[in-house]
Amino acid sequence: MKVLVAYYSESGNTEKVAKAIYEGIEKAEKDILPVSEVKDVETYDLVFCGFPVHSHSVPRKAEEFIRSISAGKSMAFFATHGSLRGGQLAVTAFYHALSLTSKGTVLGTFGCRGRVKPDLIESLLNKAEYRSWALEAQSAAGHPDKGDLEDAKEWANWMIRKARSK
Ligand SMILES: Cc1cc2nc3c(=O)[nH]c(=O)nc-3n(C[C@H](O)[C@H](O)[C@H](O)COP(=O)(O)O)c2cc1C
Repeated sequence: MKVLVAYYSESGNTEKVAKAIYEGIEKAEKDILPVSEVKDVETYDLVFCGFPVHSHSVPRKAEEFIRSISAGKSMAFFATHGSLRGGQLAVTAFYHALSLTSKGTVLGTFGCRGRVKPDLIESLLNKAEYRSWALEAQSAAGHPDKGDLEDAKEWANWMIRKARSK
């Protein structure tokens, strides 16, 4: 089993989760790379792809990476987001990521909160339509925390067990 942990991260939150996943992967050959540095996904049996949620969706660079993966490759998505964990808005981004892949190849998804840049929160607090989101996002400070990273590791090993039993 050869596993790739690919990630896109602007302020380091998703990178932290990617590194925790990578470190937690047991009994498999593994690599970790930003999506911009991935050369050949074909040699991997399972590809994890992580991204920050942007505008309730997948940032363009992560989207391009997901689209570039050939049909049938086993994948698992992880994301960090300012919204509450499990909230509908964060889940919407996973739906979009899933729509970029061929049917039946995504083994699972994992999301956790990630600190939102204070300047972004500040600017959205002043816009009526985004104010409630900005208020919610303030409490993402301090994430991903130790508990998030442990959960990510556990999830990743579950994904690997799923890939092995396919
Ligand atoms: C341009 C931009 C748009 C964002 N849009 C959302 C969003 O729609 N929903 C959400 O929950 N978080 C949103 N966030 C917060 C990020 O998803 C969150 O802070 C994430 O952990 C950043 O990850 P990174 O450090 O790996 O870039 C946004 C952040 C930025 C910079």
